[in-house]
Amino acid sequence: MSNLFYTLPQAELASRLCEKSFADRVFFANSGAEANEAAIKLARRYFQKKGEKNRFRIITMLQSFHGRTMATLTATGQDKVKEGFYPLLEGFSYVPFNDLKALEDQLDDTVCAVMLEPVQGEGGIVPADAGYLKAVRELCTKKGILLIFDEIQCGMGRCGKLFAHQLYDIFPDIMTLAKALGNGLPIGAMLATREAASGFDVGSHATTFGGTPLATAAALEVLHIMAPRLSWMRSAKRADTSKKNWRN
Ligand SMILES: Cc1ncc(COP(=O)(O)O)c(C=O)c1O
Repeated sequence: MSNLFYTLPQAELASRLCEKSFADRVFFANSGAEANEAAIKLARRYFQKKGEKNRFRIITMLQSFHGRTMATLTATGQDKVKEGFYPLLEGFSYVPFNDLKALEDQLDDTVCAVMLEPVQGEGGIVPADAGYLKAVRELCTKKGILLIFDEIQCGMGRCGKLFAHQLYDIFPDIMTLAKALGNGLPIGAMLATREAASGFDVGSHATTFGGTPLATAAALEVLHIMAPRLSWMRSAKRADTSKKNWRN
């Protein structure tokens, strides 16, 4: 059954992910690369739908990793991933991570999105500086540019909160998840605010196996187990790790 139809586990997982994050809408895919493809497509379509056809550039970070499809390897800030696959997609520029000035210099009215991992994974486990991430959020808001966080590696509890950016007290417009979301079953997700998600209309994007009942049921169980344990990490007072409560 394709994701043209809703299923209960899919709807419940989307709703739980929104409850626990900044997001209002979720698109399910089969992998991290596909979740990032969806994010890249959404950012471009958001502005093209508004008639801003020249606003298609995406700024990513050097040493980043976003996947191995043509768009996501283009977004990746590491030459070794691109070797042998030229020509790449148009409209991607790269700046050093944690360098605000370098980013600011790129942010003209051709930029639709800034895409980064709050903690770079393949780049060597490099966290964003707290001040940097806040300043990037402010810059994007000021210039009306979408901010995409790739939390495929650093999200789902890996950094101590459910999502790594929650350590920084700021929110993206779009976030991607995969890996630990399914904990062994293939699933990816792109989460977005209602505003950013308005870039897609019915039929703009889809994938046959995105959000199958099996994968979403598994991810729901992952959230049931993981989320309360992370609440315990946030606040000792809220600690209750009895098995019964994992399901609440
Ligand atoms: C930060 C990040 N983004 C995207 C991906 C790609 O995910 P997948 O291998 O599920 O396509 C990875 C995989 O290592 C990753 O670490």
